[in-house]
Parts: sequence; structure tokens; C-alpha cells
Amino acid sequence: MRFAATTLAAYAAGAAVLAASLLKGKSRLELSRAKQWSLAGHARMARRIAALVPFYAYDEAQFFRTDDPPAEVAERRRAGFMRLADLYATRFAETSRRTAEVADGISDVQFTDAYRVPFQYSGFVRRHLAAGAFAASSSGVTLTDLDGNRLYDLTGSYGVNVFGYDFYKACMERGARRVRELGPVLGLYHPVVADNVKRLREISGLDEVSFHMSGTEAVMQAVRLARYHTRRSRVVRFCGAYHGWWGDVQPGVGNPVPARETDTLKEMSDASLRVLRRRRDIACVLVNPLQALHPNASPAADSALVDSARGAHFDRPAYTDWLRQLRAVCSEQGIVLIFDEVFVGFRLARGGAQEYFGVKADIVTYGKTLGGGLPIGAVCGRKELMKRFRDDRPADVCFARGTFNSHPYVMAAMDDFLRHLDRPDVRALYTDLDAIWNGRAERLNRRLRDEHLPVQVANLSSIWTVLYTQPSRYNWMLQYYLRAEGLALSWIGTGRLIFSLNYTDADFAAVADRFVAAAQRMQEDGWWWCGAGATNASIKRRVLREIITHRFSPRHDRTKPSES
Ligand SMILES: Cc1ncc(COP(=O)(O)O)c(C=O)c1O
Repeated sequence: MRFAATTLAAYAAGAAVLAASLLKGKSRLELSRAKQWSLAGHARMARRIAALVPFYAYDEAQFFRTDDPPAEVAERRRAGFMRLADLYATRFAETSRRTAEVADGISDVQFTDAYRVPFQYSGFVRRHLAAGAFAASSSGVTLTDLDGNRLYDLTGSYGVNVFGYDFYKACMERGARRVRELGPVLGLYHPVVADNVKRLREISGLDEVSFHMSGTEAVMQAVRLARYHTRRSRVVRFCGAYHGWWGDVQPGVGNPVPARETDTLKEMSDASLRVLRRRRDIACVLVNPLQALHPNASPAADSALVDSARGAHFDRPAYTDWLRQLRAVCSEQGIVLIFDEVFVGFRLARGGAQEYFGVKADIVTYGKTLGGGLPIGAVCGRKELMKRFRDDRPADVCFARGTFNSHPYVMAAMDDFLRHLDRPDVRALYTDLDAIWNGRAERLNRRLRDEHLPVQVANLSSIWTVLYTQPSRYNWMLQYYLRAEGLALSWIGTGRLIFSLNYTDADFAAVADRFVAAAQRMQEDGWWWCGAGATNASIKRRVLREIITHRFSPRHDRTKPSES
């Protein structure tokens, strides 16, 4: 009898273990189905593969012929490149000289310079087409460099510049005057803080606000609060989405250690919704609505432009539907839905992505433009999620501080920014925003097609990316032709153009003329020559072969970037 009971217990335990393993296996399978097939969807694998890619560089002879063009085309490219190099050397002389003087002391400059174009071409490009890191002034929609060149600004200062630089100069100046008497006192608030809280609560539709020093910190705090209140550990982010450079939200290349509590899922996918529905350990879902322009793809940088496969297409109804589904699943499962509006807040609409897509989040992070020109991060959230301590457990707190949080100068510039949102001329900038920017993109695309140029643009309102319509290894050269035509781009090149909303039709027409002229020059110089049968896949295969050859070449360890 005892034997039978023991056997029964063993069977029951075995069945329980089997059931648990089956459940675990099922959950693993569901998770892997919810991952984007690309490397961006597999953070750990991406890091491992990135670590295997060896450095190698094309020498001058190879540089112009990496797609095996006829000699005449390679010669045309060389002549065009050298003409451009002469123009850069004279037109940007002082800006480049001053940059070269400090570059080896500023790590950021070294990094951005090295990653403007695919690494194999980078050394040669840097030697001849130095991009300066200095600017002297800004005005209207232009920047002026140290040589006195005025360039149309398409950098958007990483998205900070929504209303035009003069607007922010005024916010900072008026703000500084308001808080001068208090100066840099920290820990105590200047009364403008109360006004900011009131306005942010109204704009976000959420109950409480906390101020931080950067968008990265705002996201850190939002995630920490979600974990604290749900008592769950895992964070879901979507493939390709940027949320700052904090480890947990940057699980792939760029972060030397694995983000063990982060799951990177496919956006706009039923499989991801299934995972959210089933799992019980997910604290929050982070959404960067900018991904609506290129769901599941990383921000488009020209350093990754090895071929013409870059894609982007914004489908507003489809993305709205996705956000609604996410909202429903998060509400069902007690998962905190966080909209990271550090980039798109105040840009897509006065009320940001929540207003634009008509979907409410539990927590929203803002940053960039909200500081009125000064550094900022802010978290707005539902009351029960923002609280940093428990009434019944006084020692169980959710710590968050920051020496410079609520700095009087930042708070005053923010106050000015928020007040001016309601000024009629600023409100008017939001009217027909989509129609204006979609119309501009369509007109430019039509012109590019009419001129038989292999370039198109895709946009999410005033945030644009450049697409290439025929296979080529040299698309990244466009950023240098654009600069020569007086268009300033950020270091990620044609991957992201950011317009401020104060661009008039006349300003935009000037940009479009220059854009077309740059593309025409690039075409005349032979960069878009395309061999019969070339495809993006054949280019990728070729680059992969090169990488493998260099990886296993006995020379590869001796070839250092500085030697290129
Ligand atoms: C969506 C998003 N979140 C967070 C950040 C990080 O903000 P910051 O650079 O101010 O730390 C950025 C910056 O580009 C961003 O675009």
C-alpha cells in the first residue's frame, strides 16, 4: 500500500515536472516566434556577430571600384570625389582645421567621424572630406559654420529643434532672466516648477510629473517605477527602437554586457501580443512611436548603408491599430504601457504621440525639445505608478534622484517653451502638419522620379529618411554632395533628416532644389552606376565574403584602423 502511494507520488511529481517543462517550452517557443528574424531582433546574437567582424579598409585603388565598374566609371567617380575634396578643403577650411585640432581629445568626435559611412570606406573619406564638428551661429532654419557658410539645418539638433532655433534662444534668454535671482540653487524649487507641472499634467493627461536631466534618465525612471509597482522584472521593448543608452534598453550592439531582463519583440505582430498575454513576469512595454516610420528596423544610419535595402513606410492607420491592441493587452494583463515620447513629443502634435494616435499610455517620457533648449528628461504618469514609496512598507522605496533635476534655468526655459505652445502662431504650426509634410515629401519624390534619380524619401511628419531605389554600394556618398549644396546633416547622414516646423514653403523649396542638385551631381559622377544583375542580396553576399576572407586572413590582426 505504501509502495503504491510512493509510486503514485512519483508519477504525480513526474507529470508535474513534465507539464512545467512543456509549459516552459511552449513559452520559449512563443517568445522566439515573437522575435524579428533580423539581427536587430536577436540582441545577443547581434553582439556575438559584431564581435567577429574584422576591420579592413579599401585603399585608394579599391575605393572607387568595389562594385567592379568599367574603368571610365571608376575614373569619373575619382574625379568627382577629388573635386568634392577640393571644395571641402576650401569651403570648410577653418571648421575642419579647428575640428582636427581637438578631435583626438574628444571621444565623441572620433566616434561619430568613424561611423559616418561603412567602415571599409571611412578612413579614405575622412582624409579627404572632413566634416567639421563646429558651428558659429544659428538663425531661422539655418546654421552657420566657422567659415561663414550658411547651411539649411536638417540635423534638427537630434530632434530638439521643433520650432526653430530662434524660438529656443528666446526661451533660454527669457527663462534665464526670470530665475537669475535664484541662480543655481538645487534641491529647492523656483516657483516656475509649479507652472510646468500644471501644464505637463494637462498636456499628458497624467497625474504626476518627475524631472530628470536627460531622456535616458527619464526612461530609466519610468521602467524602474513599472518594475517597482508591478513587482515584475521583465521589460519588453520593440526591435530597432532607441530608448537612450542605458543598458536595459540597449540590449544589442553598443552595450558590452547582456541585458538579462529585457525581451526584444517584433512590433506590429500578433505573436508579440500572444507573449504579452501569456507571460506573468512582464513589468512594462516600452514604445518609441518613431518606429512607426520603420517598424522593427534600427534607426537608419549611413554607416550601415552597405546596399540599398533600407526601407521605411509610415502607415498611420496600421500603427494606430497596433497601439490600440497594445493598450488593450497591457490593460488586461496589468502591464505598464510606457510611451517614450522623448523624440516625438510636441513634434507630432501638441499632445505628442498620445494625441496623434489617439491612444493613452500609463507613463509617458518626454525630453529633448521640452527643455526649451536646455537638457531635460521628464516622466509623466498615473498617480499609483509614480509613487516612490509604500505606505505599508516604509523601507521599500523606489529610489530616484539627480543633482541637477529641476535646475532653475532648465525649469524656466521649459516654462517659456510650454507657455508658448499656446501662442496662436505656435498653435498654427500644428495645423495640417501631416498634409504639409506629406505634400512636401510627395513633391520632392515626384521631382526625383522625373529626373530619373534613384532616390526617394519617406517621412513621419517632419522626420524623414532617404531611401535608395537601385542597388548600390555608394549611397552614403549623397551626404557629402548634400553638404556641398549647403544642407547640414547629422552624423548618421541621410538616414534621418529632421525639419523644424518653422520651415516655410520657400525654405523647403530651396532645400528641395539643393537636394535634387546634389543627387544629380552624384549621378553624373557615376556613383550610381549599376552592373547588370546586381541586387542588394548580391552586394550583401559580396561584403560577407570580404568579411569572412579578412576574418580568416593571417594579416587581419595587424591591420588597425589607424593604418587605413
Ligand atoms: C525615443 C528616445 N528615448 C530616449 C532618448 C535618450 O534621450 P537623451 O539623449 O536625452 O538621453 C532618445 C534620444 O534620442 C530618444 O530618441
